[in-house]
Amino acid sequence: MKNTKLYIAMVGLPARGKSTIANKLKANLSKNGIKTRIFNNGNLRRKLTKQDTSSPAFYDPQNSEGVALREQFALTNIKRANNFLSKNGQVAILDATNVSIKRRETICALLNKEHPILFIECINDDKKILEANILRKASLPEFSHLTQEEAIQSFKERIKYYSSIYTPLKDEENIIKLDSLNNKIIEEKINTDIPFYDRIRDLLVTDIIKNLFLIRHGETFFNRENRIGGDSSLTENGIAQAEALARYFKNRTIPVIFTSEKKRTLQTANPICMLQKNCSIVVLKEFNEIDSGVCECMTYREIREKMPEVYISRKKDKYNYIYPDGEGYVSMKQRVSMGVKKAIYLSNNSKNIMIIGHQAVNRMILAHFLYRRQEDVPYTYIPQDKFYHIVATQDKKLFQLKSYGI
Ligand code: F6P
Repeated sequence: MKNTKLYIAMVGLPARGKSTIANKLKANLSKNGIKTRIFNNGNLRRKLTKQDTSSPAFYDPQNSEGVALREQFALTNIKRANNFLSKNGQVAILDATNVSIKRRETICALLNKEHPILFIECINDDKKILEANILRKASLPEFSHLTQEEAIQSFKERIKYYSSIYTPLKDEENIIKLDSLNNKIIEEKINTDIPFYDRIRDLLVTDIIKNLFLIRHGETFFNRENRIGGDSSLTENGIAQAEALARYFKNRTIPVIFTSEKKRTLQTANPICMLQKNCSIVVLKEFNEIDSGVCECMTYREIREKMPEVYISRKKDKYNYIYPDGEGYVSMKQRVSMGVKKAIYLSNNSKNIMIIGHQAVNRMILAHFLYRRQEDVPYTYIPQDKFYHIVATQDKKLFQLKSYGI
């Protein structure tokens, strides 16, 4: 008989994107009428324990009291998952580290054998992403009695304890190993009939963008002179644009704003961030503007007069032309795509994502989502008095240029 119910057990060290993946699965399966619930051990621990369980010692595998308590939470969630599937539930997701073989054996022994188990291991060792994710964890209420630095330290020690008992998936019956930053399946071994498998697999490898607000920084002194690159500041007009953007987005929740390292994107982000209740700015160097090498800080006119060969070659094939000692659209593709992946990963399924970039970078970001002929990409219209609103879910695609009322 065909299986109709499924257990999914997440596996992976803390801060590897397990909950993000679990939430993405739940949201999309539920939307398609598949009754899905997440059983998260961390949430249960925070809810049920009166004592402080944030200290690293609680996670020391030698600390028998901590081990017993965590075991109890795992067992409670296993019971609840069984109960859910025994009623009308269809997919029960066990969201916890589940890094040891022993824990996974317990899961296999105690879950109802009538339904298959799919183990999904999240792997991601990108340092920058990990640090940003740890920073986000450090601001959770359970660390509120610590300074930010102490909280980060504490979380890193917790990860070390988990690492000491971590055995990657291998002999389990049904396995997916996922590069959770790149949405790439690294390894897959399926031995049983897994219900909803195609849908789940498709979700794992697809970026879901509910709302991406893609903004170009406000006007700079260099923009006024038609000067390229550099690190110029916003003009009065640019500041007014940033303030108008802040007012426009005031009543939408923007938890994170991603910018480049350049002053002009940060100066545009600051007023927006200030009018939000709970917002942080994350700088990604992947969103820095095209490096125009020997032409940095020159005007287009100066380039035409002083380096006509550069001007002519670029005009001939703008997409593939690479500035001497700099970049071209063609060579930016990979880094900008990596920036987009990092932004999606770090925004943790939030409804709204905001990126404040530059002319060439935003053209590449748009091209990442919207099929464009390569030769057209460097000519996409990227104004400073409007922004792009992008939606890319499984059943909706939207690209809209909107005014923010400047
Ligand atoms: O002019 C602003 C700017 O962001 C420059 O810094 C950059 O070199 C340029 O736009 C990219 O646009 P294009 O490829 O059309 O020269």
